[in-house]
Amino acid sequence: MRVLTGIQPSGELHIGNYFGSIKQMVDAQKESDTFAFIANYHAQTSLKDGKRLAELTMQSAIDFLALGIDPQKSTFWVQSDVKEVLELYWVLSSFTPMGLLERAHSYKDKTAKGIAANHSLFSYPVLMAADILLYQPETIPVGKDQIQHVEIARDIAIKFNNEYGDIFTLPEYKVEDSVATVPGIDGQKMSKSYKNTVNIFGEEKKQLKTIKKIVTEPVPLEEPKEYHNCNVYNMAKLFLNENECKELQERYQRGGEGHGHFKLYLHDVIWEYFRPYREKREYYKAHQDEVRDILQLGATKAKEAALPVIEKVRSVSGIRY
Ligand code: ADP
Ligand code: TRP
Repeated sequence: MRVLTGIQPSGELHIGNYFGSIKQMVDAQKESDTFAFIANYHAQTSLKDGKRLAELTMQSAIDFLALGIDPQKSTFWVQSDVKEVLELYWVLSSFTPMGLLERAHSYKDKTAKGIAANHSLFSYPVLMAADILLYQPETIPVGKDQIQHVEIARDIAIKFNNEYGDIFTLPEYKVEDSVATVPGIDGQKMSKSYKNTVNIFGEEKKQLKTIKKIVTEPVPLEEPKEYHNCNVYNMAKLFLNENECKELQERYQRGGEGHGHFKLYLHDVIWEYFRPYREKREYYKAHQDEVRDILQLGATKAKEAALPVIEKVRSVSGIRY
């Protein structure tokens, strides 16, 4: 089974990105044919500083490799290194009703936040459909916020297939229920744009400072505390096994410890969890030529998968004459 996902190189990675997308991809490598790419064209919709985008693209590649994307098992590349995706994007545009894009939440959310309403922001889901359909994956692991985009890709594929026969595999999204929405330090969805993130590769002091800011209920130290809706507990449980979760629940129920203690514990848990990844990241930072070689090899493999599909599309849609 082929599994595909893309992540924008738009800033520091946070634990929402990790559990919502990267970890699922890393886990999928064990049994699936995994395709993972850095969506740098998508990042252009909101990032105009070219130098910064180039840097972030490299930084993201380093981060994904550090977090366990294995180029031996996965096809891992940068979106813009396979230009066929732009061709497919155009062809699919003629199979995309305006209403479908007008209903897209992400466009509405982003423009409501003040991001300029340009064409690329509006047609973003069509490029994402091209990303998906070009490589024929069955499954797209994403966070909850991306479900609608995968549905749009599916709708576009159905329209195209209705016209020309079974050209595209219909993709399905996969959302890991337990981590569908990782909460941020204010309890809202964790997101770069809400400035409520706990980053994966931040400095230790900064991470502790951020964790201390997590919003909690004011309950006297000695009293038992509620863990179900506690932002600290809900973040910690992502990192803990069943027994460790139970132990933490008992500490909440016992009383005698305040949220400050649980925050320190959460900090330690997160810091230890990512320790081996930090070490790998230092290695790739010092060996960027190796990273470039990995990305080039990945682009070659991705292109091999894309070519038969784009050839079929050219042929049925009359571009090949
Ligand atoms: P951000 O909201 O910080 O800009 P992105 O939109 O770049 O994050 O998301 C990259 C990937 O990480 C997507 O697959 C998205 O669904 C997932 N993701 C982002 N934030 C969360 C979250 N809080 N919980 C679960 N998954 C998330
Ligand atoms: N839109 C996705 C995000 O912001 C990134 C993305 C681009 C993607 N193309 C994709 C995700 C294809 C999955 C499949 O997170």
